[in-house]
Amino acid sequence: MSMQRIQDQFERTIDYMRISVTDRCNLRCIYCMPSEGVTPTNHDNILRYEEVVRIVSVAARLGVKKIRITGGEPLIRKKLSFLIASIRSIDGIDDISLTTNGILLKKQIHQLAAAGLNRINVSLDSLNAEKYSEITRGGDINTVLEGIQLAQQEGVSPIKLNMVPIRGFNDNEIEAFAELTVKTPFHVRFIEFMPIGAGAAWSEGKYISSEEIRQRVSAMAPLIPVKLRRSGPARYYRFENAPGVIGFISPITHHFCGSCNRLRLTSDGKLRPCLFSETEIDLKSALRSGAQDEEIERLIRLSVEVKPQGHTIGHERSFTHLKPMSKIGG
Ligand code: 5AD
Ligand code: SF4
Repeated sequence: MSMQRIQDQFERTIDYMRISVTDRCNLRCIYCMPSEGVTPTNHDNILRYEEVVRIVSVAARLGVKKIRITGGEPLIRKKLSFLIASIRSIDGIDDISLTTNGILLKKQIHQLAAAGLNRINVSLDSLNAEKYSEITRGGDINTVLEGIQLAQQEGVSPIKLNMVPIRGFNDNEIEAFAELTVKTPFHVRFIEFMPIGAGAAWSEGKYISSEEIRQRVSAMAPLIPVKLRRSGPARYYRFENAPGVIGFISPITHHFCGSCNRLRLTSDGKLRPCLFSETEIDLKSALRSGAQDEEIERLIRLSVEVKPQGHTIGHERSFTHLKPMSKIGG
């Protein structure tokens, strides 16, 4: 089978698809969801695994090589390792990763790794048990830490920890997170707090730029820039002789749109060319009305064609009209 390479109007090669397998979550992080949660999509409107696999098969022929599974919380979807094994067997897919809150990692990592999962990102916004429970509205950090440890034992590498610093809330832990890289091989990544999601949580005062975080971290010890093969939107550094690395993801101050290589598939079967744009292309309806692969291919190509050059989200105002991250795929 011949693999193609698909480029958008701005000569970006699209080889990465993020797939949200559910919009439900077993936590309620204050910056992501209101305490009562977000009304979940009806089961019938969530893509079935066969449908996801079919989309990935067509996308792989167009040159998609990397898949990330996201949610909501992807590990609450039943038999996720079955989906991973199926995607693993598709020609052309060479990397499968998972973004999780880590609560169910402990129970599932063995199976997931056996199914062919290569890498994980764990969202972890505090190292303090009480604070963690407060941010996630009830999450148990020890369960997450045990899951991470098991993942290490399973040989999952690298393990990335994503932290969203929020001023006056968990920003006092920036140094502790950076310090983790001195003793562990983790990739600790600081993500700028974006003005989307549970609107009430975000305000300009709570947002901290990557530059400010980097300055604080570099006051601990000199930061040495590192070039990683798959750096994606992050910029990486390390402390001298540290096994881990420190990354900065700056959706607000450093628009990484110029090198964006991704499409997103929402759990209800829409292709979203950009996180910040409301354009969606409905693959589910096409699939369920019996579309041939050619039609699926046409729709994927269309979403690449309409992928916007960039976004204009700044830190001046909140974009609460956008769907929450749990619906788009974090
Ligand atoms: N700003 C930055 N990151 C966010 N996430 C969710 N909402 C936001 C936001 N408003 C991140 C989580 C997690 C991933 C699923 O998305 O921290 O790492
Ligand atoms: Fe769940 Fe992730 Fe949102 Fe937290 S940030 S509520 S873990 S989807």
